[in-house]
Amino acid sequence: MKKIEKKVSRIGVLTSGGDAPGMNAAIRAVVRTGIYNELEVHGIMRGYQGLIEDDIMKLESRSVANIIQRGGTILKTARCKEFYDYEGRKKGYENLKKRGIDAMIIIGGDGSFRGAVKFSQEFNIPCIGIAGTIDKDIYGTDFTIGFDTAVNTAVEAIDKIRDTMDAHDRIFVIEVMGRDAGYIALHSGIATGAENILIPERKTDIDALVTGLQETKKRKKLVNLIVVAEGENFGGADEVQRKILKEIPTAEIRVCILGHIQRGGSPSCLDRLIASRMGYHSVECLIEGRYNVFVGIMNNKMHYIPLENAVKTKGKIGDEWLKIVKILAS
Ligand code: F6P
Repeated sequence: MKKIEKKVSRIGVLTSGGDAPGMNAAIRAVVRTGIYNELEVHGIMRGYQGLIEDDIMKLESRSVANIIQRGGTILKTARCKEFYDYEGRKKGYENLKKRGIDAMIIIGGDGSFRGAVKFSQEFNIPCIGIAGTIDKDIYGTDFTIGFDTAVNTAVEAIDKIRDTMDAHDRIFVIEVMGRDAGYIALHSGIATGAENILIPERKTDIDALVTGLQETKKRKKLVNLIVVAEGENFGGADEVQRKILKEIPTAEIRVCILGHIQRGGSPSCLDRLIASRMGYHSVECLIEGRYNVFVGIMNNKMHYIPLENAVKTKGKIGDEWLKIVKILAS
C-alpha cells in the first residue's frame, strides 16, 4: 500500500448543478482513489442541499460498483438556492464538522464552484473543483465531463433530422442546450454540416441569415440547417423561425428543440476517461496539500488553477470556427 503523509483524512464528494454523463465515473474515481490512499470518502446527496440537510453517507469501494457506464449521478444533484446565503453555508459547515469531514470535492459547473470558493474562504475547508457540465463553459480545461456525450447525442439527433430535411427539401432550425455557452451548438453544427450556427457569444445577425437563405434558394439549395444554442440572443429557435417566415412566407421550415435528451445517457469513452483521470487527480491534490484548485486537463496534461480563477474567466470561441462554418456551408 502506498505510504502517504495525510493532511486530510475524511473527504466529502458531491455533484451539483445540471447532471452530466460521466459524473458517476468521476465519483467512482474519487471514492476508489481515496480508499486506496486510506482516506474515508463520504457521499453528499443532492449537492449543497444534502450538505445543508446533513444527507451524507460513507462510501465504500463497492458503493460505486457498476456505475462507470451510467448517466446521471448516483449522488443526485440540485441547484441549491440556500447555499447562496451565509446561513445556508454555515449549516453545511456544521454538518461537515460534526462528521469530521475535512475537505470536499465538487463535481459541477461554474455556479457550483462559486459556492465552493465562498465556502472554503469562510470556513477554511479545502475544496477541489472538477468540471462536470455538458456546456463546456469553464476556463482552465480543454474538457468538461459530459460535453462529449452531449454533443454526440446532438449530432446523432441532427443526422436523423437531416434525413427528413433532405427528403422534404426543408429548412430546419434545431435548438441545442447552452444557456450561456455555444460550444454544443458550434461542435454539433460543424459536425452535421450546418449552414448557420447561432451562439450566445456572438450577436445574431438575423438579416444576414435571411438574406443568405434567399440567396441559397436562388442557387437551388433547398436544404438548410440552422443550429441554435438555447441562449442565443435573437430569442432562440422559435423566434428565428418566426422571423424567417415573416421575410420568406413560402419557406418550408420546421423547428426541433432537442432539450434534456442531451443531458442523459451512457457516457462516451472520452467522458469516462477524463472523469476517471480528473477524479483520481482531485484526490491526489488533497493528499499533496494542493487546496482550492480546479482540476483541468490542457494539452493532455493535468492543469491546476485556483478555483476562483475558474469561475472568474470564461473560455472564448475563436472566430476561426465561425469562418470555417461559413466556408464549408457554401
Ligand atoms: O448547464 C447545463 C444545462 O443543460 C444548460 O445547457 C441548460 O441551459 C440548463 O442546464 C438547463 O437546466 P435545467 O435542467 O435546470 O432546466
